[in-house]
Amino acid sequence: MSKRKIAVAGATGNVGREILNILAERNFPADEVVALASRNSVGKKVSYGNKELTVQALEDFDFTGTKIGLFSPGGSVSAIHAPRAASMGCVVIDNTSHFRMHDNVPLVVPEVNPQAIANYKKSGIIANPNCSTIQMVVALKPLHDLAKIKRIVVSTYQAVSGAGKEAMDELYDSTKKIYANQMLEPKKFSKRIAFNVIPQIDVFMEDGCTKEEWKMKVETKKILDAKIEVEATCVRVPVFNCHSESVNVEFENPISAEQARKVLDEAEGIVVIDRPQEMKFVTPVEISTQDPVFVSRIRKDPSIKNGLSLWVVSDNLRKGAALNAVQIAEILVKDHGL
Ligand SMILES: NC(=O)c1ccc[n+]([C@@H]2O[C@H](COP(=O)([O-])OP(=O)(O)OC[C@H]3O[C@@H](n4cnc5c(N)ncnc54)[C@H](OP(=O)(O)O)[C@@H]3O)[C@@H](O)[C@H]2O)c1
Repeated sequence: MSKRKIAVAGATGNVGREILNILAERNFPADEVVALASRNSVGKKVSYGNKELTVQALEDFDFTGTKIGLFSPGGSVSAIHAPRAASMGCVVIDNTSHFRMHDNVPLVVPEVNPQAIANYKKSGIIANPNCSTIQMVVALKPLHDLAKIKRIVVSTYQAVSGAGKEAMDELYDSTKKIYANQMLEPKKFSKRIAFNVIPQIDVFMEDGCTKEEWKMKVETKKILDAKIEVEATCVRVPVFNCHSESVNVEFENPISAEQARKVLDEAEGIVVIDRPQEMKFVTPVEISTQDPVFVSRIRKDPSIKNGLSLWVVSDNLRKGAALNAVQIAEILVKDHGL
């Protein structure tokens, strides 16, 4: 059998570094792993388990003989290099938003629609959904199976790690400056992020929504059910890592908080921590670097006929990006002979 060579493109970034960590932690069956980034990073070292990999330039890399490419180099870069890699026989799992809504590209969350992976042959590319969408659909799939979701209203509280490594530096530097009575001009964000919240993630669209909000709507339809209506407000908050979501759900059929708690407790990839009387609920700092999607504060919404409200928190760099991509790669190896 030929060697299983894996390429990680964007290996010096937040998502790429986490992909390398997760490949090593899960003993992904790779014979060789190569780290790729921009020309500026050529020769730099990145960690892969107890080894160090020397970064090569994505632009110059020949993908012939590479089985799987885990990509997170940004949308415009993936737009060029993911199809180039796929044309050389490398199956690409892409973390950027570029291909997600393309008809011939499956958009996959393994706990929700693993069957969609089989369609990868049409383009050689599989898209990883947006981080906020992933954690929400993981939490909602068991509830949809039980009582059929009609409508979702979600407000997100998104960590700065979701905007890349420079955004994390901006939160750190601007927080420090404020203590020294100085101000830092925002660069990665449109407004000051330290001690503030920003109701804008990605660009504004013609209808007044942001592109992040649009992504949550259309991606949920593509992954979970085209009939589900979604209204989203996406907010950047001064938290370093892990996205939180307040999710209000309207169902077609009756469902109690107890039923929801039980079915979520039994579901793969979900941990329910929900005993508010004992102060048992999750916050982002408590679950950073953990794999599951955490659900707390499950309660009846008495303002509508069949409604529930819940609080969903997950590590956006792990389940929201790197872990989801590695899980897809594991299925490609196990079920599709890659
Ligand atoms: N962070 C998240 O929670 C998250 C979740 C889902 C999806 N995503 C998506 O994943 C992508 C990366 O996000 P991130 O947070 O990892 O960003 P990041 O920390 O800023 O890292 C960007 C990576 O892309 C590389 N890169 C930039 N320009 C390149 C080029 N011309 N050729 C090759 N590589 C290039 C960078 O390499 P250099 O270091 O050499 O510049 C770096 O490795 C984005 O599209 C983002 O939307 C992120």
